[in-house]
Amino acid sequence: MKVATSDGKSKSKTKNLVIRKPNSTDGAAVNELIADCKPLDENSVYCNLLQCSHFAPTCALAELNGEVVGFVSGYLVPETPERLFIWQVAVSPKARGLKLGKRMILDILDRGVCHDVTELHTTITTSNAPSQGVFRSVARELETDVNRKVLFDREKHFDGAAASEILWQIGPFERVDVERVAA
Ligand SMILES: CC(C)(COP(=O)(O)OP(=O)(O)OC[C@H]1O[C@@H](n2cnc3c(N)ncnc32)[C@H](O)[C@@H]1OP(=O)(O)O)[C@@H](O)C(=O)NCCC(=O)NCCS
Repeated sequence: MKVATSDGKSKSKTKNLVIRKPNSTDGAAVNELIADCKPLDENSVYCNLLQCSHFAPTCALAELNGEVVGFVSGYLVPETPERLFIWQVAVSPKARGLKLGKRMILDILDRGVCHDVTELHTTITTSNAPSQGVFRSVARELETDVNRKVLFDREKHFDGAAASEILWQIGPFERVDVERVAA
């Protein structure tokens, strides 16, 4: 059994599982998946369409038996393109525990567009243990550090309406680390 990845490499283990770049016709399915993945913020379909088109090189989609079961949105930070920022990680409840969240992130990092990336950034609320687990696991695989600080504050940025978002800075790492993990 093989997993086909976006760079054409094959990886183990789950039957009929494909990880690939999204395209614009995936936007609606991605929107539905995210609605199914509480506590993620839901976005407009238009936002997901932009992610699946303009930002496709730094996003990943997972299909299990032809059904969209995973999505990761990300982008290279415009002023610091050696930094990959991961926005949302969504894995359908029916596909959790298959390392899909982690594998989609590593799939993006392994692409040519991320050749010069040395740091992975994301934000996580203190109550989101599953997300913390995913990114701690990525850092461990890359054998690198995690530094944390508040990026968006509950009062200052959300007017008290949402929990503070903690920036996780994972790195530094080198290309060779990504290739070792992705091999
Ligand atoms: C968080 C989420 C993406 C995890 O997806 P997943 O594919 O099941 O996670 P993985 O199988 O890749 O797990 C990777 C690591 O995270 C850990 N992890 C996954 N779910 C966890 C949980 N509920 N609690 C603690 N750790 C968890 C795993 O143990 C694994 O660690 P390991 O490599 O040390 O064994 C999925 O649960 C989800 O979509 N949740 C709702 C949306 C959300 O909160 N997204 C994250 C914020 S952007």
